[in-house]
Amino acid sequence: MTAAPGPLQPTECPSCGSAGGPDRIRCEACGDLVDVRAPLPAGGRAAGAALREAFERSPERSGVWRYRALIAPTIADPVSMPEGRTPLFESARLGRFCGLSRPLLLKHEGMNPTGSFKDRGMTVGVSVARARGARAVACASTGNTSASLAAYAARAGLRAVVFIPAGKIALGKLAQTLAYGARAIQVDGSFDRAMALVEEAAAALGLYLLNSVNPWRIEGQKAIALELLHDLGWRAPDWLALPAGNLGNTSAFGKALREAVAAGVVERAPRLLAVQAAGASPFYRLWRDGGAELVPEPRPETVATAIRIGDPRSWKKALRALRETGGAAEAASDEEILEAKRAIDADGIGCEPASAASVAGVRRAVAAGRIPRDAQVVCVLTGHLLKDPDATVKHLRNEPARAPADLGALRRLIEEE
Ligand code: F0G
Repeated sequence: MTAAPGPLQPTECPSCGSAGGPDRIRCEACGDLVDVRAPLPAGGRAAGAALREAFERSPERSGVWRYRALIAPTIADPVSMPEGRTPLFESARLGRFCGLSRPLLLKHEGMNPTGSFKDRGMTVGVSVARARGARAVACASTGNTSASLAAYAARAGLRAVVFIPAGKIALGKLAQTLAYGARAIQVDGSFDRAMALVEEAAAALGLYLLNSVNPWRIEGQKAIALELLHDLGWRAPDWLALPAGNLGNTSAFGKALREAVAAGVVERAPRLLAVQAAGASPFYRLWRDGGAELVPEPRPETVATAIRIGDPRSWKKALRALRETGGAAEAASDEEILEAKRAIDADGIGCEPASAASVAGVRRAVAAGRIPRDAQVVCVLTGHLLKDPDATVKHLRNEPARAPADLGALRRLIEEE
């Protein structure tokens, strides 16, 4: 199924339809973010069985490049760790936690090489950057994108420059970003300020921009949804929930599902539930109020620092994804996010705070009657528990016991558990 090496697909604007080259990020005609044109095989829906067969037989160890026929067929020698092929957990306890009558499924993207789903987009983004002759790559980040970019750039021999909100990224992510050798620039203000700066700097200084505004990142992240459908035997669940910040991932899921249905790989798409943190929820408000334009949140604040974003770039694509799948948006409070995180951690699965927003959002949607109790629901956990050790330790409910001096006291401590 792998096509011969050749030029990259062109881009096209989802808003006005204008076509352009593979290096475009925004449409020259209307200014909106562009998409990569899907390499959909001839034959439409009839091609689905052949594609599924090719995916099944693929010897690729990467859970991204395994699906390259629907992603970037002409990239023959990618920068890959490899990423993907992440576990799908089943948890009856978390099903009950959400108010469901059946187990909750959790696709753990924190099990990627740098501990977050960003690796799925970065293997494609950095491979394209290298193929296009870039010397330096750049991003703004709440921490996971910068960790992933730093690692993949190091593997590719490219210089990485990252803009991070000063004092607002989790320790594990900062450690990774610096250790992998990125040039890190701390910016006073939120992610939104860092994002505006990197867009300016990339244009002025010739840095190859690898935030999820880059459509090739989106192509790689499509593989999360494709692999999940594959895990489920190419049968869509009822709902697919994910945490939402800059909204690249929600956009990627929407595009993957649209294309998977068009290619006949699956019959139908799951409904998407995009969950924001209440203190950083401009997209939730847009969806709730049926507005036409996103109104940015000037002072986003949440314990889930990964999604502490007030001016998400990909809101138009994400809104389309919700509309097309009959989906919804939710907002969960920090307390709800932390409660969900403790439940996920205590089930032995574990995740960083932002990831738990997906479970907190499902719990809310079930309580509100939006998701039926007997629905099959999959939550995407986007980052590993070890990404944010400070938040985890700070919000624990089980303090460690001090070792007592005698065996009797020790027995009481252990047996009272
Ligand atoms: N979950 C985690 C763990 C994240 O790191 C992010 C985004 C999201 C969810 C939201 O994804 O932005 O596509 O809606 N992190 C970015 C970063 C912003 O810089 O690492 P999104």
